[in-house]
Amino acid sequence: MGISHLQPVLLLLMLRALASLPTQAAARGGHDPSDDGAHGPFSRKLLEDKPQITEEMVRGYMSNTELETAVHAFGSRCSNISRVYSIGKSVNHFPLWVIEISDKPRQRESEPAFKFIGNVHGDEPVGREVLMHLANWLCDNYLKDSLATLIVENMHLHILPTMNPDGFALRWRGNANNIDLNRDFPDQFFPVNNDIDYRQPETRAIMNWVKQEHFTASASLHGGALVANYPWDGTRDTSKHYYGCPDDKTFQHMASVYSRSHYNMSLSKEFEGGITNGAFWYPIYGGMQDWNYIHGGCFELTLEISDTKWPKADELPIIWEHNRMSMLNLLASLIKSGVHGRIFAADTGRPVPGSVMIKGIDSKVSASSTFGDYHRIVAPGETYEVVASMRGFRQKSTRIRLEQEAVSLDFILDPDGADGQTKLLPRSNDRGCRCDNDNAAKPFHVHEAHLWLYLLIVSVLLALYVVFKRKTVPRLLAYRHSSSLRRPVAV
Ligand SMILES: *[C@@H]1O[C@H](CO)[C@@H](O)[C@H](O)[C@H]1NC(C)=O
Ligand SMILES: *[C@@H]1O[C@H](CO)[C@@H](O)[C@H](O)[C@H]1NC(C)=O
Ligand SMILES: [Zn+2]
Repeated sequence: MGISHLQPVLLLLMLRALASLPTQAAARGGHDPSDDGAHGPFSRKLLEDKPQITEEMVRGYMSNTELETAVHAFGSRCSNISRVYSIGKSVNHFPLWVIEISDKPRQRESEPAFKFIGNVHGDEPVGREVLMHLANWLCDNYLKDSLATLIVENMHLHILPTMNPDGFALRWRGNANNIDLNRDFPDQFFPVNNDIDYRQPETRAIMNWVKQEHFTASASLHGGALVANYPWDGTRDTSKHYYGCPDDKTFQHMASVYSRSHYNMSLSKEFEGGITNGAFWYPIYGGMQDWNYIHGGCFELTLEISDTKWPKADELPIIWEHNRMSMLNLLASLIKSGVHGRIFAADTGRPVPGSVMIKGIDSKVSASSTFGDYHRIVAPGETYEVVASMRGFRQKSTRIRLEQEAVSLDFILDPDGADGQTKLLPRSNDRGCRCDNDNAAKPFHVHEAHLWLYLLIVSVLLALYVVFKRKTVPRLLAYRHSSSLRRPVAV
């Protein structure tokens, strides 16, 4: 059962639980910031300190228009490896600019895609600054530094420096409607946010973006703590306890890649190894991270990258330095580990948008419709049974041993009923009988006298099938060559 199929069952359970929720639940995401110290399951520790953001604190940070200028300046300076586009507008009509970084930024490729989102909360501006540092560093070091080159050439990186420009301008957490955007996504446990029409424009922009792009993984940047947080963010019964998603091990691995590459995140006294399960820290509902995993097949982390929400601007270069290797290694891990490949149809030799599962893990990643490519990040050091499936095709599975390196694994799926029996009989009936009604009554009735004819047709078609199949093999090989040969092939 896929995670999405769990939802109706859970929703029923949750509807019952909802009755016993505090009234805040209905207003989730819309709470008044003056009520920040909040109580009950929807309070977050981060809300508790609410320092006044003074002019002096703002000094040295880019304003929204300065950020916009910086994004476009980047776009022209690094036009070779980037594209600037907008995914929509904020409540106050500020464009949500994205920088895409890749050696082929305007093209679809059979490569993983990653997104970084900064400034989800208006009063957590570190992410928007750090992300501009990241973009510029990649541009400056492409073809000079091996990690920069690896990232630019083998993936598509999308950077949204600010998801909440209005909240930043207003110097508060929510957007211009004072809605907490990280509580505004549809939630697996509570249907409060399920009406898409009532989502905030910033939330809707992200949702459309995730549906459009084929993101493998992502991270959003926050401030107020130093920890890499992973799903689930909420629990069914709103109590605070460890609640892992089906890919818990993979997420622990991903979060650790970030934490261990950081200057001192992994030394945390509060969080073992500098990582935490969201619900274990404090449950939230309507968060972006769980929605991405469930609805986008996108493995998203929520990164708290500075103890202070709004540090002095002169600390920004240091914070960037502390996070640089984390960001680069997280991106590189998408290329250098996990299982990658393409799914093809055996009959046509063409790529198909099938899906890939790992036996024992109740989640699916889908292959793209353009290239049939899939990118499955999964914790290294184990043996996995990888299953590819596609409607109308027989599923295939292979066992692989995943060490520290990436595994390249293509699937060629046979169409259902490729042996032809069920298709052949109706076809010969067409020839043998003038009476449709008779056929309908006993569609698969075979006269003994015609048996030899059916057998002949079956053998001719089987022979044709064999010849056809042999012809498609070189075609499949050609497709394979165009795919990712640079990756080590371990199976
Ligand atoms: C970018 O521009 C440089 C110089 O014009 C060129 O050598 C390079 O191949 C271009 N493309 C990429 C993807 O780097
Ligand atoms: C990490 O380093 C920063 C800057 O030196 C410091 O403020 C913070 O307390 C350190 N955190 C941990 C967990 O060591
Ligand atoms: Zn935040």
